[in-house]
Amino acid sequence: MTATIIDGKSVAAKVRWQCRERADELQARHGVVPGLAVLMVGDDPASAVYVRKKIQACADVGIQSHKFLFSRDEKQSVVIDKIRELSADPKIHGILVQLPLPKHFDLQEVLGAIDQEKDVDGFHLYNVGGLVVGGTVFPPCTPYGVMLMLDNSGVEIAGRNAVVVGASNIVGKPMALMLMNREATVSVCHAKTRDLAQFTILADILIVAAGCPNLITGPMVKSGAVVIDVGINRLPNGQLVGDCDFEAVSRRASKITPVPGGVGPMTVTMLLVNTISSAERSCADRSPAIAGAVGAALID
Ligand code: GUN
Repeated sequence: MTATIIDGKSVAAKVRWQCRERADELQARHGVVPGLAVLMVGDDPASAVYVRKKIQACADVGIQSHKFLFSRDEKQSVVIDKIRELSADPKIHGILVQLPLPKHFDLQEVLGAIDQEKDVDGFHLYNVGGLVVGGTVFPPCTPYGVMLMLDNSGVEIAGRNAVVVGASNIVGKPMALMLMNREATVSVCHAKTRDLAQFTILADILIVAAGCPNLITGPMVKSGAVVIDVGINRLPNGQLVGDCDFEAVSRRASKITPVPGGVGPMTVTMLLVNTISSAERSCADRSPAIAGAVGAALID
């Protein structure tokens, strides 16, 4: 078997086109420009690249971004005061604190200061809890993007065996919850899992987010599985690769995401979706906080 490629760039382009249309509609009907505040503490080079990509993507679809940079030894209270000010600002519909934060920050205190209705990363405990009980206002961007790619590729989820490799708060755990909310049978593996292959071989849908090149080899994958590689690793020779041995896994899987050009473009795209959805909600009646399970509604 040779896998079909799930092309994240083309799915992302479609969704961004819809974002542009929704932003234009908000402007035309309500005179509202969606606004995203991006806060970054310190000068981590990888974070700086991500922040630049997010800001460029905002400009492309008609979201007004506002960047706030703090030195790495800034006091936590100063950052929290800025978050509170932005939370009260009606021009701001989304607030994002780029992670990681310096060690002297208490992550939950910082995230907890974000108005839960502007928490476009979906990291506030309120939104995490929403996901646990079966829905959330702001699904976290990377797993939200993965769900959209699965739906857009016609992958059936209910009743399938899904295995998530990696249990981070940003990707693995919310990914498992979203798949569970769509009635998959979900196993979560992590750094301490013994004999990873005995789990991965059972997966109809295998999501890998471990940050470890070549972790998943061909024989670890069930024939015909759908494989989503969330890993982004830079090899010593400069090559960007995921967590799967792409060639070998492609020969077993029915569908696979490449790295680069798979999940990566979807993460920033779903941030745009969450920001525009928040701006739309601010124009409508501020009703129920908990929406339905993450579904396929975005793309036809
Ligand atoms: N750092 C790595 N991934 C993310 C993300 O999705 N959101 C934020 N805010 N920081 C990150």
